[in-house]
Amino acid sequence: MEGDLGCLDLIAELRNCYNFVFVVDDAHGTGVMGACGHGTSEHFTVSELVDIHLGTFSKAFGVTGGFIAGSRGLINFLRFFSRTYLFSAHIPQMIVAAVTEGLNQLEARPQILKSLKRNRELLAQGLKSLGLPHTSPSAIFAVPVPVDVDIRAVAKRIEDLGVFTNTVEYPAVSLENQRIRISVMATHTEEHIDQFLSVLEQVKREFKF
Ligand SMILES: Cc1ncc(COP(=O)(O)O)c(C=O)c1O
Repeated sequence: MEGDLGCLDLIAELRNCYNFVFVVDDAHGTGVMGACGHGTSEHFTVSELVDIHLGTFSKAFGVTGGFIAGSRGLINFLRFFSRTYLFSAHIPQMIVAAVTEGLNQLEARPQILKSLKRNRELLAQGLKSLGLPHTSPSAIFAVPVPVDVDIRAVAKRIEDLGVFTNTVEYPAVSLENQRIRISVMATHTEEHIDQFLSVLEQVKREFKF
């Protein structure tokens, strides 16, 4: 929720001592983390040690659905027994086309990932100057909203001032941990980020938090 990274390098080391299946649900890392955007396991250079890679298409790819990548045996098993194959319609072709093109773009235009990394850096610096330090290399940013402040009113005000953010509210988190989540994109400009930071500063002042 705050963009913390799991210690995949340490978990990978534990494989030397324990026999377990290493599953990484990298919803927020796919297309973002690692030198080529291959995800958090690429960031930690442990991709080869992960048994099952899960991801969603609803974040970096901007559509819906998701994927599981693993051994042929695992994938064959899932083809017969996973719920989405048992009674459901398959993933629509336009989603497959969108994701395929997303993957092509990620490969063909490394500039996209560079812009994202530059933008997340700008946002991290800006938030730090507002007293909201962010130490993770992820592109997820959270602004905590105190429990006695109406988070929906905060989000509405931010939206009225021209910026869309998401609220993360109870029961997804405890009441004390409600926060605004900011999703920075490769296509944001420096001006967008400055605009967001001044909107946030204003809203923090108005709502006194
Ligand atoms: C770790 C993790 N897994 C899965 C999901 C769900 O993704 P989807 O949008 O495909 O339901 C999320 C959504 O934020 C997530 O953070």
